[in-house]
Amino acid sequence: MSAQPQPRRPVLLTGASGFVGGRLAALLHARGDALLTLGRTPTHLTPSAHFPCDLADTPALPRTLAPLPDVHAVIHLAALPDLAACHAQPALARAVNTHATEALAAFAAHRAVPFLFISTDQVFDGAKPQGLYTEADAPRPLHEYGRSKLAGEHAALATSPSAAPRTLVLRLALVYGPSPRGDRSCSERLLAALRAGTSSTLYTDEHRSPVAATDVAHAISLALDQLVLGRPLPHILHLAGPHRLSRFELGLAIARAANLPATGLHPAPQPTNAIPPRPRDVSMSPALASTILGWHPQAVSPATVVGT
Ligand SMILES: NC(=O)c1ccc[n+]([C@@H]2O[C@H](COP(=O)([O-])OP(=O)(O)OC[C@H]3O[C@@H](n4cnc5c(N)ncnc54)[C@H](OP(=O)(O)O)[C@@H]3O)[C@@H](O)[C@H]2O)c1
Repeated sequence: MSAQPQPRRPVLLTGASGFVGGRLAALLHARGDALLTLGRTPTHLTPSAHFPCDLADTPALPRTLAPLPDVHAVIHLAALPDLAACHAQPALARAVNTHATEALAAFAAHRAVPFLFISTDQVFDGAKPQGLYTEADAPRPLHEYGRSKLAGEHAALATSPSAAPRTLVLRLALVYGPSPRGDRSCSERLLAALRAGTSSTLYTDEHRSPVAATDVAHAISLALDQLVLGRPLPHILHLAGPHRLSRFELGLAIARAANLPATGLHPAPQPTNAIPPRPRDVSMSPALASTILGWHPQAVSPATVVGT
């Protein structure tokens, strides 16, 4: 008698209503993964079971998580990612970016499933000459967003049994490209301003390594597969694009990719007294992630900017 195929357990996703989470949910759904989303807002774009949850309500989290069905893995993308909002509401930033991460990592450890925590290039201070931070570089965040995400990284990694590392921190560079809602990414906001004839000031001395949302989603899915198979991975990987660009250079490349005139883009140096302070160069090297995952991030192009 042949064994009955086991129904696939779903992947638990937070942040699926957001920019990166929406792209990832669509990719996982398209390749046949069942999804269970957790958060304030259900995603209507991808069929999934949704559990309502405000991740800022730290005391309620264990009660919310305990009755969840069996899952295959947990991918935690939800965050308060806005620098100014984190600066203005540090307790909220800690609740969402740190304490919710701790609770979700504990849930994943308790269920003995892999945990992927999506972090940020903003954990670095941006003072490394020529940037291109590697996973071996020491983080030193300058603002509450970076501090709360770094504390989330520590909380996530503290729950991973060292003999069988099932927790992975994926630090994302600046992500661009089409979002499921059409207005959630930095490139969409820039293109909307260019189309409206509004001018945009872009810094010539703030460097990042912009990465396409489609590439980020692909890399997360590759990492998920490796963890589920029990393959050994480093604790941290950097998901960055192939080039270090200033915000102004990125703006020019986005305008060119969308075939729009760049006359509305104005180059300027960063203000020296910005509150919260912004790191100058948090470009990251994708070399380790490329080697380990067999992943090849693309340069800025019409395909990565507007999806054609
Ligand atoms: N985008 C980038 O350039 C970038 C760069 C580096 C790292 N990252 C990281 O990537 C991840 C995703 O970022 P994103 O750009 O996709 O952000 P986003 O579009 O702003 O989405 C944030 C997500 O978090 C959810 N969320 C926020 N507060 C919540 C709460 N209290 N309870 C439940 N859910 C909550 C949001 O739900 P609602 O829809 O209900 O608001 C949304 O689904 C974050 O961890 C961020 O730190 C992003």
